[in-house]
This record gives sequence, C-alpha cells and structure tokens, in this order.
Amino acid sequence: MSDSQPSHGRFRNPRAQHNFIGRTCSIVGVGSYLPERILTNADLEKMVETSDDWITSRTGIKERRIAAEGETTSDLAAAAARRALENAGVTAAEIDLIIVATVTPDMAFPSTACLVQEKIGATRAAAFDLEAACSGFIYALEVAQQFIASRSCDTVLVIGAEKLSSIVDWQDRNTCVLFGDGAGAAVLQHRPESHGLLTACMGADGSKGRVLCVPAGGSACPASAASLDQRLHYIRMDGRETFKNAVQAMLSAGREAMKRCEIDISQVRCVIPHQANQRIIDAVGERLGATKEQVFVNLQKYGNTSAASVAIALDEAVAGGHVSRGDLVLLVVFGGGFTWGAAVIEW
Ligand code: UT7
Repeated sequence: MSDSQPSHGRFRNPRAQHNFIGRTCSIVGVGSYLPERILTNADLEKMVETSDDWITSRTGIKERRIAAEGETTSDLAAAAARRALENAGVTAAEIDLIIVATVTPDMAFPSTACLVQEKIGATRAAAFDLEAACSGFIYALEVAQQFIASRSCDTVLVIGAEKLSSIVDWQDRNTCVLFGDGAGAAVLQHRPESHGLLTACMGADGSKGRVLCVPAGGSACPASAASLDQRLHYIRMDGRETFKNAVQAMLSAGREAMKRCEIDISQVRCVIPHQANQRIIDAVGERLGATKEQVFVNLQKYGNTSAASVAIALDEAVAGGHVSRGDLVLLVVFGGGFTWGAAVIEW
C-alpha cells in the first residue's frame, strides 16, 4: 500500500495487505475453563527437589490448575466452549465446524473435537483436531478464518484445551513445575460491521522437533513395557534451547503480524503472549517496544497450558477490561515442533 492511500480509522486498511479475497472473520465470543484443583509451588516442594523461590524467580509461576480424576481434555474444552457460546449469543446448533487444538487428546481417535461435538450437542458441526503444540490456538484461528472467508462455514468454534498433567513427568523437576491444565474457546463468524481477525501468521522448524517432545505413544515408539520403564510417554524439554528459540520466533512473528497490518506497537492496546515463562514474556514485550501495562500476564496462576494458554488469557483480558471494542490485540505464541505464530485482532 502506498503512502498516498487514505488511512482507515486508526490504521490503514489491513485487508489490502493480507490479500483478503473473501469475507472477514470476527471473534464474536470467548470463554475459558480452569479445573478447580490448585497445585502450588509449596505443594511441588513436597514432590520434587525444588523451591518456591526457584520456580518464581526462573519462571514467574506461583500455582497451576490440575484436572480432577476422570476429568478429560474434552471435558475442559466443552466447558470453555459453553461459556464462549453463551458470551457470543450463539447456540451449539449453529456451529458448522469445531477445531480443537491440543497435544493431550482424550485418546488417539476419535478426535477430541468429535467428543466435544457430542458433549455440547453441536449436531450439525464437522469436527477435527489440530496439533501445533503451544501454537495451536493461533494455527486454529487461521484455519477457521479460511473456512469463513471462503464461505465454506458461517460459524466455527475454535478451542485450545490441554490436560498436560497427564503427560508431565512428576519426577522431573525440570518440567513438572511448568505446566497446568485448562481450556479456552472462541466463536468465529463473519460480522460485516466489524473486522475481527486482521491477520495471522504461522511458522515452523521441524529440525528442532526433538528439543521439546513426548517421544513415545505414537507410531515411532508404540507403548511397550520398555517405553514405560524409560518414562518416554512424558514431556521432554531442553529448556535453554527452547527459551532461546521462543524469544526470537515470538519477536519476529509479532513484528511480521504488525507489519502486515501496517501498525506499530503504540497502536496495540494489549499484547497477549504465550504464557510459558515471565522472562520470555518480558524479553519479547521489551523488544517489541511494549510497555508493561500493554502486556497481559496470567502465568502466575496457571503456568503453561500449551494450546489453551493465549485462549484463556484472551478471555481473561476481555473479562478484566484490558480489551474493549475496537481495540487492537496482538497474540504471539511459540511451542513444540518448533512452531510459532502471531495474530492481530480488532476487538
Ligand atoms: O511452551 C513451549 C515453550 N516452553 C518454554 O518456552 C520453556 C522455555 N524454557 C524455560 O522456561 C526455562 O529454560 C526453564 C524454566 C525450563 C529453566 O530455566 P533456566 O534458567 O533455563 O534454567 P536451566 O535449565 O539453565 O537450569 C538451571 C539449574 C540447573 O541446575 P545446574 O545444572 O545448573 O546445577 C537445573 O538442574 O536449575 C536446575 N533446575 C531446578 N532447580 C530447582 C531445573 N529445574 C529446577 C527446579 N527447581 N524446578
């Protein structure tokens, strides 16, 4: 877009930049659900050799939520979905498609999305899961947007949901202090009067897949007595390598998303980064040029909830008045794969 073109409100027409061929896509309602049980740093001190001081200073996390016995990822997802539908004023019968982003599906198949479809009574909806680890919610938003833009669907329910407590090695202090359970959901429709999702960019680097993974349980290493003995069904992570890549990738994805919309950070009301580590959030926020007040953080309460992280944070930011109608919101994520992404939403 040339400098001589007129600006549209507070920023120039982002759709020209993003090659918007079809309909725009709005987030018409969000919701989240966190299980009741709280696991504090003091609780973890009794389980592994760690301390509240170490966890707080190295990560910023004070507590996390843990699903109840028998409570599954699809239960968390369905609870978040019901709240998002209520906030949107949309019924389950109106949903055309359900996309669940998760690395902790209830089972290999059927998909968690199919289980959610049954639980919320979305009988007309097609349903599938999407796996992009902690970046899953932004990947799912972008996929949903394509269905709405192309007129293939009118109403899409996007959910990020995780029961990470089921794949955390509770004997490994390097990882068990970091993660928590929860779910966040968004209802997407075309609303002619508002822009909604302005852009979403995604990236991946499969060469770093082993840095953060669950080695067993798939076709590469099916469950066996040996895989259980070696604790291969739990999260393995090289924390330092992940940290370094997370800062770089979130920064460049955030910059790319703003560039596509021809906006700068001063026009963004709220930055919602993946909630993995306060030091990563601070580094990304500072390098993007955001003030502390612009950056939304709820990590201290929930830890890293992977695909649910920014979905829960978006819901809390809206409910807490950190985001109002017409505000620009920047989401930035990073996760296993490696995967990353960023999205700009006009709320
Ligand atoms: O969601 C996907 C994205 N995930 C992330 O972005 C996570 C990225 N990584 C991180 O957040 C950080 O790397 C960690 C929080 C995982 C670790 O922090 P760090 O500052 O990178 O620590 P470190 O790995 O360099 O370990 C420092 C020390 C080690 O001891 P030695 O080898 O120096 O003696 C660890 O054994 O801290 C030790 N340590 C712990 N000590 C007490 C590791 N975990 C703990 C613990 N309590 N829970």
